[in-house]
Amino acid sequence: MRVFIVKNYEELGVQAAQIVSGQIYVKPNSILGLATGSTPLSMYRHLVNIYQEYGLDFSEVTTFNLDEYVGLPEDDKNSYHYYMYNHLFRHVNLDRMKIHLPDGMAVNIDEECLAYEKAIQDCGGIDLQVLGIGQNGHIGFNEPDEKFEAYTHEVKLKQDTIEANARFFDDVSEVPTRAVSMGIKTIMQAKKVVLLANGSNKAEAVYRAVCESITPTNPASILQLHQDVIVIIEEGAATYLRDRLTLQQKERILFFNKIHECNGIIAS
Ligand code: GLP
Repeated sequence: MRVFIVKNYEELGVQAAQIVSGQIYVKPNSILGLATGSTPLSMYRHLVNIYQEYGLDFSEVTTFNLDEYVGLPEDDKNSYHYYMYNHLFRHVNLDRMKIHLPDGMAVNIDEECLAYEKAIQDCGGIDLQVLGIGQNGHIGFNEPDEKFEAYTHEVKLKQDTIEANARFFDDVSEVPTRAVSMGIKTIMQAKKVVLLANGSNKAEAVYRAVCESITPTNPASILQLHQDVIVIIEEGAATYLRDRLTLQQKERILFFNKIHECNGIIAS
């Protein structure tokens, strides 16, 4: 696990976009796992810039999103379909046939989960997975639980997640209570993972993900077992790490202060 602290949210987006564009440059037919939420927005903005300014070619790229709410149609402004088209898909030359999000309106959600998981496996798995993190340590919509749910599944959202995500809705009562999410194994099978965190409200979750014991009650902690994870954290989200990390922990997670040292990672 390599942890990089960047000076602000804008820088987080720049660095994350460089990693994603480097991945596409090295492997034009990459399978990308994509995330939603407020954190990756600056990354998507910079990716669109790189496409417009430098002609980054998305035409062979395949995407799979992490999750989607159950019960929100694609054109609902709070659906992750809407988010992705609004912030990335309609701005770049992605092939619409290569874009995948779980269908939260499927009549049979269990079948949808199986089909989604199969589609990922049929493509050979994800090359680069982008993740945000919930305040309760969730990744995708894998909520704290007694066990790690392996594959794409239906989730009952925790009340704290519903409340955290209510800021995007007119009222908390409008937040869906269920979602479809890639599972922990789906995520862990990705060849590379980039975890992004922004804001002091994520500082504790980041610390727990990186430093505390691996347990399904803290889903992001599983990433400590992945062999190729880059964690990009904005200063505010890094406060607990800075304060509490022991020397031994710093050695274990290969702690860097400057993202610049990460140059070349994708090309290697
Ligand atoms: C949602 C998404 C997660 C995301 C999380 C954090 O719950 N399912 O994938 O990481 O929100 O969102 P934000 O970046 O807005 O804090």
